[in-house]
Amino acid sequence: MSAFDNSRLAAVVLGAGKGKRMKTDTPKVLHPVCGRPMIEYVLEAASSVGAGETVLVVVQGSGELFSEAGAGIRCVEQGEPLGTGHAVRVALEALDEDFEEILVLHGDSPLISGGTLQALIDERRAQDAAASLVTTELERPDGYGRVVRDSAGGVQRIVEEADASDEERDIKEVNGCMYAFRRPLLEEALAGLTTDNTQGEYYLTNVVERLVSGYGTVVPVVAPAEEMLGINDREQLAAVDSIMRSRINKGLMESGVTFLDPDRTYVDYGVDIGRDSVIFPLVFITGRSRVGSGCRVGPCTTVKDSVIGDGCVVEFSYLEGCEVGGDVNIGPFSRLRPGTRMLATSKAGSFVEIKNTVVGRGSKVPHLSYMGDALIGDEVNIGAGSITCNFDGEKKHSTEIGDRAFIGSDTMFIAPVKIGRDAATAAGSSISRDVPDGNLGIERTAQENIEGWRERRKRKGSQKKGTGKI
Ligand code: UD1
Ligand code: CA
Repeated sequence: MSAFDNSRLAAVVLGAGKGKRMKTDTPKVLHPVCGRPMIEYVLEAASSVGAGETVLVVVQGSGELFSEAGAGIRCVEQGEPLGTGHAVRVALEALDEDFEEILVLHGDSPLISGGTLQALIDERRAQDAAASLVTTELERPDGYGRVVRDSAGGVQRIVEEADASDEERDIKEVNGCMYAFRRPLLEEALAGLTTDNTQGEYYLTNVVERLVSGYGTVVPVVAPAEEMLGINDREQLAAVDSIMRSRINKGLMESGVTFLDPDRTYVDYGVDIGRDSVIFPLVFITGRSRVGSGCRVGPCTTVKDSVIGDGCVVEFSYLEGCEVGGDVNIGPFSRLRPGTRMLATSKAGSFVEIKNTVVGRGSKVPHLSYMGDALIGDEVNIGAGSITCNFDGEKKHSTEIGDRAFIGSDTMFIAPVKIGRDAATAAGSSISRDVPDGNLGIERTAQENIEGWRERRKRKGSQKKGTGKI
């Protein structure tokens, strides 16, 4: 909740642009920045000022795509996108008359902060102006509308780059395209807009000149340049993503996480990492993931939609949809697929793949194994090269391995099959029948040693000029 009464203020978020410069089939504002659709950052900033209602203007026919991103927010489809001025008009038609102040934001500028928006609202109110707008100075203002000031330093109008004279293009102060308006004045100014410009659109920016000449001042609020950055193309998407990433990593460092190389560590928005954890380079922690405290993650590791407990070590590995208890060791080179649960102090070692499987407390799958659809009890040791043969070509079947079982190397579990508690399997066995508690399951043909084989082989070879093959 904001400390200010903004209940009669409505926020309008523009998200219906064609995204021409992005060259994309997805609505531009749904492109993710650090794993979260860019529009969600803007909606969050709008909600932080406690607007009475938020209307999100989206591309015709795309309303459904926004059901998750815009939860609790009213979506209005724009129809033919005729420009930012037209988009605001469409939003106002959907808003109750009681909302007498309108905050306009862009869905493609996700670095904006709630503080700047509140300053925008406050400045307009303090000066009882028709509108206020956010501006900033950019060393490279290319692509932005320029703020033209009059001789007294007041804002006179905004000129879009496409329509600007050479002199106007040299202006470094740009329009952030976020505004607070008195609604009746905004409506009147919008009604008079034309498409008489290079792009043939209804520019919201032209409202500024109309308001200045008709009703008095439009107040500029200068904000940090970073917050203005808009995403029109893939290069700007990468630039904003990188700034957002440093913000996320900085926040985590402030809360006690070590990053060896924050510029090469990719943590999504909303991921939580506990204090005293150390994150090595080329680590991706994405989606709905959480990492406990005192962990060591990486290098070269992906943790996606997974929860990792305290004190774990995860090296050179790929985890997706997993739940990992405390003090677990993973990797190097493990792949843990969805539905894997590693209970406390367990281990998945090198070149191990695990899927939809519980690995019990203190149990170990140290080398070169595949465990799928298995329930492994506590303190079990799985010998190198063991495999659950869980798929018969039509269906998946499960394998159960009881507490303290000792699985010999290269055991094949022909599922469905159960290994009892304290049971063992002999190395190299294909186990297709259940092994009761405490039993040894052994399945091997008896070994035969052929005496004098090498000598005989040599003799044969000298007669026939042998190939040397056995
Ligand atoms: C706009 C401003 C420019 C400012 C810049 C800041 C105008 C005319 N220009 O330019 O002065 O410096 O933002 O980032 O306003 N949209 C709709 N419906 C439409 C057109 C656009 O909803 O018909 C939405 C887009 O999805 C986007 C936003 O409005 O979120 C801005 O549109 P965009 O085309 O990106 O404007 P810019 O060229 O960046
Ligand atoms: Ca833009």
